[in-house]
Amino acid sequence: MQIALLLIFTFFASICAATEPEDFLAVYARIAKQSDPNFDGFSAARGKGFYFRSYKLDDGSELSCASCHHADPRKFTVAHIDQVPCRACHVTLHKGARGRSAIKREIKPLAPLVNPDRFTNEWQVEFWFDWNCELLLRRQCTPLEKGDFITWLMTIEAD
Ligand code: HEC
Ligand code: HEC
Repeated sequence: MQIALLLIFTFFASICAATEPEDFLAVYARIAKQSDPNFDGFSAARGKGFYFRSYKLDDGSELSCASCHHADPRKFTVAHIDQVPCRACHVTLHKGARGRSAIKREIKPLAPLVNPDRFTNEWQVEFWFDWNCELLLRRQCTPLEKGDFITWLMTIEAD
């Protein structure tokens, strides 16, 4: 896992800094091509399938990317109003945590055309891919999965 991340950051370094979704796609494409010479581009259809695929967790719950980011990734999430899994914001609801367990009151839309801050910060993007992929797939997402995912999100336009 560390090595994979290191590799990814090395590729980022080679294009200076990734500050737009297209930069991330360029980096993932380069790595994907290295591991599979037959790689012929990302697919929005595959990305959509990946987004809605659900995984069974140890606690019996079933989650997909859509569970927290909504079936419509243009949607905004407000704590305790929108129905998303508690764990999206609460690392723990244990009393000992004294109410300090939640990270955010809002989760902004994931679709970059609605929320231009998405896919503009390497650290943030890799941290959350890391976190969410480990939670659902119990492994890192591959550069192909990440590229397909962003490619699909970029087809989603504002209303
Ligand atoms: C349990 C809830 C949850 C699930 C399930 C989930 N996410 Fe997230 N995701 C979050 C939270 C919380 C953040 C950070 C808050 C924010 O960015 O608004 C986040 C942020 C992200 C980001 C950061 C994007 C950016 O540029 O800011 C990416 C990428 C991401 N998620 C990908 C995924 C993928 C891929 C899946 C499915 C495999 C997934 N997420 C499933 C909760 C979730
Ligand atoms: C979008 C983010 C988000 C989601 C989703 C969310 N919460 Fe919260 N929750 C918060 C925030 C932020 C606070 C305030 C925490 C603080 O003051 O540090 C909070 C506070 C709370 C508190 C009181 C303080 C505590 O932590 O004991 C409870 C109880 C709570 N949430 C329960 C839930 C439950 C149950 C769910 C799922 C049904 C849920 N929350 C989903 C963000 C969220």
